[in-house]
Order: sequence, then structure tokens, then C-alpha cells
Amino acid sequence: MGKLGIEGYRVLITASTRGIGRGIAEVLLEEGARVFICGRSRESVDRAISELKPLGEVYGSPADITVREQAEGIVDKACEVLGGLDGLVYVTGPPRPGTFMELDLSDWDYGVKLLVLSAIWVTRKAIPYVEKSGRGSLIYLTSTAVKEPIHNLALSNVLRVSIHNLVKTLSRELGPRGIRVNAIAPGYIYTERTLQVARDQSARTGKSVNEIISEWANDVPLKRLGTTREVGYAVAFLLSPLASYISGVVLPVDGGRLRSL
Ligand SMILES: NC(=O)c1ccc[n+]([C@@H]2O[C@H](COP(=O)([O-])OP(=O)(O)OC[C@H]3O[C@@H](n4cnc5c(N)ncnc54)[C@H](OP(=O)(O)O)[C@@H]3O)[C@@H](O)[C@H]2O)c1
Repeated sequence: MGKLGIEGYRVLITASTRGIGRGIAEVLLEEGARVFICGRSRESVDRAISELKPLGEVYGSPADITVREQAEGIVDKACEVLGGLDGLVYVTGPPRPGTFMELDLSDWDYGVKLLVLSAIWVTRKAIPYVEKSGRGSLIYLTSTAVKEPIHNLALSNVLRVSIHNLVKTLSRELGPRGIRVNAIAPGYIYTERTLQVARDQSARTGKSVNEIISEWANDVPLKRLGTTREVGYAVAFLLSPLASYISGVVLPVDGGRLRSL
């Protein structure tokens, strides 16, 4: 059991039945946190809960965070079940791949809900609860696409920038109230989403999915894709008292792939 000092921390992780959110849940549970997860369907939430249960105290409920009432509702529900909130870990669903001109206006409308408004909705609800905790923090999962745009991911490239400025704005506004606010920008992390993007690239280039993934790995100084748990370790650290003087940062977890300063 945990070495980071987050035993008993009450944490809501959104979009967490699979992939990165799920990896974060695994690590936090192993560190002794009490975790609330969500995904869009009852079935996916129940499956994830039963698989995570051996690791610790986990709860969950279905919510589509692109729908305001559901995004807000999941925060209330998590607080009710956990008895408060020490951490919000905002993860969202993956946006549709596509170049700027391939995406139509309905994709942009949905993208704004998926990548920006959902964060606003859950954050507005979570702040009063997290403030009460006295040891609370907010962590936003974004993407390295924010710093160096990725081909065919126009929605992510354009819209996620708002979240980094949300982190900067909130770290200034909430620091005096005892709340730290940070972001993590994952690089290539092996999940179903990664395969979706690789299949999209494969259809565009005629290369196989394996070739595409090898090319990505080759572009990473550590020569491999990351695991969802490796993102979870970074989240666990940022939530913990060991990060007590860290606020307003965007931490890439990308094996060194980003070239920019
Ligand atoms: N994988 C990467 O390399 C990478 C890198 C940078 C950024 N990202 C971003 O990180 C996020 C997670 O990616 P991932 O690779 O973990 O994706 P994933 O494996 O496809 O998992 C997505 C998770 O989000 C949930 N979800 C999707 N839409 C939702 C919604 N509207 N409301 C609530 N939950 C929702 C899904 O649950 P249900 O299906 O049960 O709803 C699932 O648990 C995405 O925004 C992705 O773009 C990924």
C-alpha cells in the first residue's frame, strides 16, 4: 500500500472505464486513495468497477460529460458517495481524428463540449468541494498536441489549449484558497484510442497499423509508447503532499518526444 501519502484521498476521475483514466484509477487505488470513476454506459462502469475492486475502494456511475447536467451530476454523486473530494482528475473522451477541413461544424460543436465545456462544467461543481478538503487539487489530462500540433488531430490541437490556460488561470485564482491546479500532457500512450488514430493514419498512408506504431515509437527518445500506468504515477505524485509546492504546471509524460522548450 501507498508510499505517497494519499491514503484515503477521495478522488473523482472522469472518463475512466478504459485507457488513461483507467490506468490512473489503478495507480491511485494501489496508493490507497478512494476512487470514483465514470464512463458513458452503466455496463462499462460496472465492468471496470468489478475489475478494479481487488485493488481498493472504487465506486462509479455512468455519465456522458459532454452533457452539462450529467457532467455536473457526476461531481455531486462522487462527493455524496465519497463524503467529499480531495482531488478532481479530469480526463475526457477522445475527439474524432481529422484535418481542419475534413471536420464539419457539428464536429467542432461536439469537440468544444468534449474538450472544453466538460472541463468547465465539472470544475465549477468541484471547486467548492475541493476547497473544503484543505488538501485538494485539480489535475487536467490534455495532450502534447497542445505544444506541437499532431497531424490529423485538428480538434485536439486547437481546443485543448484552453485547458492549459484554464490551469494557469485557476492556479492563480485558487492558490490563495489552498487548491493546487496542474495538467499532464500525455504523448503516445498505448490504448484503444492510440489504435484508433493509428488506423486512421493507416487508411491515409497505406502503411500498416504496426508500421505506424513503430514510427511513433521511433520518434520517442525512449523508443516506445507509454503505458496508462505511467500516466497514473505522474497523477499520483501531483495529487500527493510530495507535490505541495507545485501548481500551474503542465507536465509532459511523453518519453521525451516533445522537442520544444
Ligand atoms: N492515448 C494517447 O496516446 C493519448 C495521448 C494524449 C491525449 N490523449 C487523450 O486522453 C483522453 C483519454 O484517451 P485514451 O487513450 O485513454 O482513450 P480510450 O482508451 O478510448 O478511453 C476513453 C475513455 O473515455 C470514456 N469516455 C469517452 N467519451 C466519454 C464521455 N463523453 N463522457 C464520459 N466518458 C467518456 C470512455 O468510456 P466509455 O466508453 O465507457 O464511455 C473510456 O473510459 C482522450 O481525450 C485522448 O484524446 C490520449
